[in-house]
Amino acid sequence: METLQKEFENIKTYGADLSKPQEYEALADQIVKAHNQIDVLINNAAIQNTPTYIDDDFSYDTIIPEIHLNFTAVCALSYLLLPAMLDDVRECAILNINSGLALAPKKGSAIYCGTKGGMDVFSRSLGYQLEQTNIRVLQAFLPLVDTPMTHGRGTGKLTAQRAAQDIVLGIEQGKRINNIGKVKLLRVLLALTPRLARNVMKSCSISR
Ligand SMILES: NC(=O)c1ccc[n+]([C@@H]2O[C@H](COP(=O)([O-])OP(=O)(O)OC[C@H]3O[C@@H](n4cnc5c(N)ncnc54)[C@H](OP(=O)(O)O)[C@@H]3O)[C@@H](O)[C@H]2O)c1
Repeated sequence: METLQKEFENIKTYGADLSKPQEYEALADQIVKAHNQIDVLINNAAIQNTPTYIDDDFSYDTIIPEIHLNFTAVCALSYLLLPAMLDDVRECAILNINSGLALAPKKGSAIYCGTKGGMDVFSRSLGYQLEQTNIRVLQAFLPLVDTPMTHGRGTGKLTAQRAAQDIVLGIEQGKRINNIGKVKLLRVLLALTPRLARNVMKSCSISR
């Protein structure tokens, strides 16, 4: 973010630990005071802890921060930044970055899968609430993407650049549900043979 800010003088960055409610509340306050008009909110930050509940390295202390970052912060920021988005003229969007795992979970990372499933339901419901306003609620569903989150695991990953291009295209086209890469295939499998689709995703070769 600092590199971007140096390269493009109109970019301004703010940092916060979004797993901590007091930090995202202060961040939202700071942003609304500095910028009274927000056009697009992209909820992208997330972590994925991989141990299962019965693994020796599962840590109880990771549960709440993972839920706060992946889900609570998304719900809270959508509310706290709303006053700067509601408008009679501008078209605005909230984009939530989701995962194929919201549609069918894998065995590991149950908290991550749960937060992404919750994000899907939350996004749809918030979309209904904002139907009569200038704000569209969009979701991009990613397959396995080559980023630090998936470092050292998985094959056939989408490049981060391609994922970003598809995400931006989805915003431009106002796609409420943007299925990216192999998530399109997952949707078809879920419609035709849901049991097979869930079994494939259980041991996860399509998305993390
Ligand atoms: N990679 C995949 O295969 C994949 C698949 C489906 C969905 N997704 C989704 O895509 C989105 C981006 O993930 P990614 O693959 O780019 O993961 P990543 O490489 O691990 O990046 C995670 C991002 O979240 C930020 N972040 C982590 N903890 C934070 C915290 N406590 N407070 C504020 N920011 C925090 C990180 O910021 P710092 O760099 O400053 O730590 C980083 O920008 C996530 O929503 C993820 O669920 C990814």
